[in-house]
Amino acid sequence: MTKRSVLIQLDTDQQPSSFDAIVAVDAGVDVQLRHGNVSLEDVRDLVYGAMFTRSPDDLKNTAIFVGGSDVSAGERIFENVGKTFFGPLRVSAMLDSNGANTTAAAAVLAVLKHVPIDGHDEITVTVLGATGPVGSRVALLLAGLGYRVCMASRKLDRASEAAARIRQRLRDANLEAVQAGNEQEISQTLEGASVLVSAGAIGAQLANQATWSQAAGIQLAIDLNAAAPGGLEGIDPQDKAQDRNGMTCYGALGIGGVKMKIHKACLKRLFERNDLLLDAEQILAVGRELVAQGLNV
Ligand SMILES: NC(=O)c1ccc[n+]([C@@H]2O[C@H](COP(=O)([O-])OP(=O)(O)OC[C@H]3O[C@@H](n4cnc5c(N)ncnc54)[C@H](OP(=O)(O)O)[C@@H]3O)[C@@H](O)[C@H]2O)c1
Repeated sequence: MTKRSVLIQLDTDQQPSSFDAIVAVDAGVDVQLRHGNVSLEDVRDLVYGAMFTRSPDDLKNTAIFVGGSDVSAGERIFENVGKTFFGPLRVSAMLDSNGANTTAAAAVLAVLKHVPIDGHDEITVTVLGATGPVGSRVALLLAGLGYRVCMASRKLDRASEAAARIRQRLRDANLEAVQAGNEQEISQTLEGASVLVSAGAIGAQLANQATWSQAAGIQLAIDLNAAAPGGLEGIDPQDKAQDRNGMTCYGALGIGGVKMKIHKACLKRLFERNDLLLDAEQILAVGRELVAQGLNV
């Protein structure tokens, strides 16, 4: 008898995310075991519960999703989940705290579509709000693909710290940390850039239209902030490959539709085998497979 699929949600917030639970239902998960306020001390026993209940052949029907608004806490939980498994006694797991991995992957697919790195020595992407969980994953993924990434923050030391964290994971990452706390500094960070990704906090406008749309080299502009005012003035949240004065533009909902498809596809993937660990890079790989199969980015 085929076992029912069980997703164990390990959420670092007090109430496990209803958003993540609903996406799991829509992805076809049969049963969800939802845990909130999960701390590192809880991980071992929760993971043992997943490992020791089903035979190795059936373990692919159990999976773990790590979420919550605190991405650093989620990263530590996810790392510990992976360390708890041994031998064939393991289940697949995915990290998507704050939606950061799936959102970043969707944004990167848009970059790959419109300004592909293939065949170019160097393409520079400026990421505003690069210190946040989404922006830093956009930077990580793009650097991993060979782009030069200009990581911008309102404070230079924060940008430098975010770049240093990426270099711990990706030693040769081509990153520059820059301060972009006002329109003039933002203009400077756009010099020589072909792509602008704005990943600032929800509801915060990072650049006015005159600043970003007059940057000569920008071919593609992506704003991930859905709440008014948008991060890049003049981009509509619904924009999806919208031409605006010769620039291709994406708004948060234009990216969000692709993000949802990646999220659901990753959840389905978890139940195909019992040894997947889906972090940013693996989630992007799933997105690229979807594109190869015809997903419209
Ligand atoms: N489209 C989607 O599907 C989707 C999914 C998830 C998230 N999102 C959006 O993606 C964006 C990034 O998410 P996140 O969680 O990484 O954001 P976040 O951590 O809240 O903020 C990102 C960065 O924005 C900067 N910032 C904060 N307040 C600001 C202000 N008042 N003015 C200018 N900059 C400010 C900060 O950088 P510095 O202090 O270093 O300057 C911060 O590190 C958000 O707008 C979020 O809503 C979209």
